[in-house]
Amino acid sequence: MDRINNSGIFLIGYMGSGKSTLASKLASRLDLPSFDLDQIIEEETGETISDLFKSHGEEQFRKLESETLKSFVAKNDRFVLATGGGTPCYYDSMDFMNDSGLTVYLNMPPKALLSRLTHNQNTRPLIAGKDRDELLRFIEEQMRKREPYYLRSKLIADGLNLNLKQLTEMILNYSR
Ligand code: S3P
Repeated sequence: MDRINNSGIFLIGYMGSGKSTLASKLASRLDLPSFDLDQIIEEETGETISDLFKSHGEEQFRKLESETLKSFVAKNDRFVLATGGGTPCYYDSMDFMNDSGLTVYLNMPPKALLSRLTHNQNTRPLIAGKDRDELLRFIEEQMRKREPYYLRSKLIADGLNLNLKQLTEMILNYSR
């Protein structure tokens, strides 16, 4: 039986904060399908995110990302969607997501992000090739710019001490 009527749940947060894993876990608790925006972009274009950055540049990627988000929402009404770390920060995407459903920010401090990102840095074009110090500085700097967007989410979850049961309850309560 469906546990939730909310139109859609958007997971927001920096690269490496665990949005995709959380999307699958939440989706199974809430009886919703889970999706990943990067994966949708890769499927629709037939190119990897790294190749898209290389062949078209970041600006074109941001345009594509925002258009893909909007067309996904136009076609789906019940979902948990893991967005990309930059998704809320370009065009009107944060407002769009807040108007279209429930936004949940998965918050994680830069040092924790650093250790999670050093394992799979190379699939992420913005951070590929950076050494540890450069990467930490980059994360801290980007977080300062991005967090004002992330903090406009309707719910904020502590990614370091994530309590899935509690978050599920918060979502259900919010959606009632
Ligand atoms: C990006 C995050 C990535 C991906 C792209 C750019 C960003 O998604 O969209 O590499 O700007 O933070 P994840 O947050 O899923 O790694």
